[in-house]
Amino acid sequence: MGKRVVVTGVPGVGKTTVIEKALALLGREGITYQPINFGTFMYEVASEEGLVRDRDEMRRLDGQTQKRLQKTAAQKIAGIEGYVLIDTHTSVKTPTGYLAGLPEWVLRDLMPDTIVLVETDEDQILLRRLGDETRVRDREGAKGIAEHQQFNRALAASYAMMTGCTVTVVRNPDFLLDNAATDLADVLR
Ligand code: AP5
Repeated sequence: MGKRVVVTGVPGVGKTTVIEKALALLGREGITYQPINFGTFMYEVASEEGLVRDRDEMRRLDGQTQKRLQKTAAQKIAGIEGYVLIDTHTSVKTPTGYLAGLPEWVLRDLMPDTIVLVETDEDQILLRRLGDETRVRDREGAKGIAEHQQFNRALAASYAMMTGCTVTVVRNPDFLLDNAATDLADVLR
């Protein structure tokens, strides 16, 4: 018995915040998910190999290295059983273009039941990035953020074609974090 839900969203959309709140809601009902951060699995290997100093540097590594780190992370996560929530990216914006976050060799290992896209308006994401001093966010305008969210929807559709998983959008607008957490908890139940 188990379920695998992949939660994605462009940097700054607030996916980690929504995940934490949704898991707290479910915890009150005795439903427990194991939260897994895909980037952390990649980062452990990348930092051990001396490739990066922080997790935000990973998206600027050469494509082959990023793919190798992806593959290693997916293989490790595939071994985790039960109710698993994987916090990751539908695509990663790299200096040479969008890198699929869940290419075929990652999907084959993860085989999610559902992919969630956390979204909100691009101007809100821009302001959240500017206000978050804990991370090294890429500088990008609202149009670029909108394009990234659009591209993620297209990619998620292709992931659904490959695996038969469902795809759903959870909106996380300003001042409505509680609604976003309730919506995500509904998907996870
Ligand atoms: P990852 O760790 O996933 O980085 P991230 O998405 O940039 O950041 P967070 O997880 O912190 O999420 P978030 O920015 O959406 O939200 P937060 O809750 O902080 O990935 C790191 C790296 O790993 C990637 O760059 C990539 O290199 C690599 N990676 C990962 N998966 C990969 C894959 N599959 N393939 C290849 N590489 C991969 O919120 C942001 C701010 O918004 C906060 O200040 C928060 O308080 C605020 N906020 C949230 N919700 C609201 C709201 N409703 N109203 C107002 N403010 C809000």
